Amino acid sequence: MMQRTAKLLPATDDSIREAAAALCAGKLVAFPTETVYGLGGDAFNPRALARIFEAKGRPRFDPLIIHIAALEALGRIADLRALDAASRRRLDRLASALWPGPLSLILPKLPSVPDLATSGLPTVAVRWPAQPAARQLILRSTGAVAAPSANPFGGLSPTRAEHVRDSLGDRIDYILDGGPSAVGLESTVLDLATGAPRILRPGGVSREQIEAIIGPVPAGITGTGPGLQSPGQLPSHYAPATRLEACEREAMLSLPERPGEGWLFFSGASRDTWLGNLAGDKGGAAIDRLWTLSEAGNPAEAAARLFQTLHEMDERGLSCIHAELPPEAGLGAAIRDRLLRAGKRG
Ligand code: TXA
Ligand code: MG
Repeated sequence: MMQRTAKLLPATDDSIREAAAALCAGKLVAFPTETVYGLGGDAFNPRALARIFEAKGRPRFDPLIIHIAALEALGRIADLRALDAASRRRLDRLASALWPGPLSLILPKLPSVPDLATSGLPTVAVRWPAQPAARQLILRSTGAVAAPSANPFGGLSPTRAEHVRDSLGDRIDYILDGGPSAVGLESTVLDLATGAPRILRPGGVSREQIEAIIGPVPAGITGTGPGLQSPGQLPSHYAPATRLEACEREAMLSLPERPGEGWLFFSGASRDTWLGNLAGDKGGAAIDRLWTLSEAGNPAEAAARLFQTLHEMDERGLSCIHAELPPEAGLGAAIRDRLLRAGKRG
């Protein structure tokens, strides 16, 4: 693979213009979104798409999300006439309520979208991100930017420009720095192409939010092997280099402290209860190996800090990370999904 060093630029007007021109020329640009940083390439350029797969080490069977910043672009990507009336209504309602935002919709694909983007599927994932620099970048390029999360395949997702620089900096052309991602978890992937809507990946929009708009939606969760509903949702994913063990709260609270192990609590209350359960001064010894996602146990705050915290823990040379699973409600479902996959090996 050719070595290059990405140009790391603050996401100002001038650098967005420069990066948009580079996208149009087939180059790869990592850019901030409110969920995680994306690794962008022109969605209509098969060579750029091939380079995305190569830079990430991503298997070709795992399709990309195409990012737009205007409804007009949706009509150039998705075959809206192929939707039945009920699905069309759901699309209209969801798009007007939740776009721009952390929601990706699976829709029938138009032939103009290269098969490489969709891994040969008859459907395409589309998202309209809210982050202002992302919107400007998309509008100034071809209006359709294919972008997976900007991390090597299977690893921790990037929520800061430095995460991208440290993992992909020698394989891509530009990194736009727009500061930390506000939501911190990937978009929710919702299938609207096959009749009854299904959530293929829990993410930054909760199931409760979606159901308030279109009624009951089952989580169509993903198995393994042929016929995966969302080909990228492999059992092991979002994983730090350090071994991670995801734990329900009750089980976590009774685990003993051991030297060298790290502790990731969902709330301050869980951490304090665990510390209270330890004998003698064991808590004192553990104090610099404790992390808490949200003092108040707020799922949105915890989501925003999840990947940054795992990146930090990963740099500490811990022998193991014990991670508390939050309750299912709201964004808790997506945090649980990421921690459970982070804990699977191979
Ligand atoms: O928040 C996000 O979605 C971020 C930012 C950059 O927008 N992107 C992201 O992309 O998470 P990626 O490639 O890491 O995840 C895309 C997910 C995968 O699980 C993939 O299998 C699924 O979307 N997907 C894409 N196209 C699909 C399709 N046609 N049918 C089913 N699943 C699809
Ligand atoms: Mg990803």
